[in-house]
Amino acid sequence: MATALTARDFRNALGQFATGVTVVTVEREPGSVFGMTANAFTSVSLNPMLILVCVDERAKILPLLHRKKHFGISVLKQGQQAVSEYFAQPEQHSEAEHRLGLRYRWTAEGVPVLEDTVVQLSCSVVATHVAGDHTVIVGKVEEADIQGGEPLLFFRGEYRHIARP
Ligand SMILES: Cc1cc2nc3c(=O)[nH]c(=O)nc-3n(C[C@H](O)[C@H](O)[C@H](O)COP(=O)(O)O)c2cc1C
Repeated sequence: MATALTARDFRNALGQFATGVTVVTVEREPGSVFGMTANAFTSVSLNPMLILVCVDERAKILPLLHRKKHFGISVLKQGQQAVSEYFAQPEQHSEAEHRLGLRYRWTAEGVPVLEDTVVQLSCSVVATHVAGDHTVIVGKVEEADIQGGEPLLFFRGEYRHIARP
């Protein structure tokens, strides 16, 4: 008889899928930014150009996404584990951002993105779907700025980097 899948089994199974690491950014107040690390990110559609990101129902960024309807996605570079960890914790301070050397750029649409990352997308929220304990945020990509460099990877709960075969 098959044993029931536990939450741990589920996490372990899904952790076998290697992903990049993104930071979702929203303007909290004029000139100030709130971000959240997310690897549940994927492209959705070419025409129109859509992406999605899955956000925990308890995440502080969720009400901001609903309210602002615009957000940035920045794909982290190899070596930016500390940036990933920073945006995965609830408290965000300008001193800590200064120490990490974080810089934001405002896109033409007025969306904050993280400088010094592989690619930065400026998105508008076109749909939201509650799915279990997460909300799927579907975003229309208004602008993409590729800066290049090697990406940070996340695999089996650990940070990795790309190696050529
Ligand atoms: C590598 C990594 C990937 C993550 N991916 C997601 C994700 O896709 N969606 C999500 O809701 N949380 C994700 N998290 C967790 C959030 O970053 C984190 O729990 C959240 O920012 C906690 O802050 P809160 O106080 O807003 O809940 C991820 C964390 C890490 C370290």
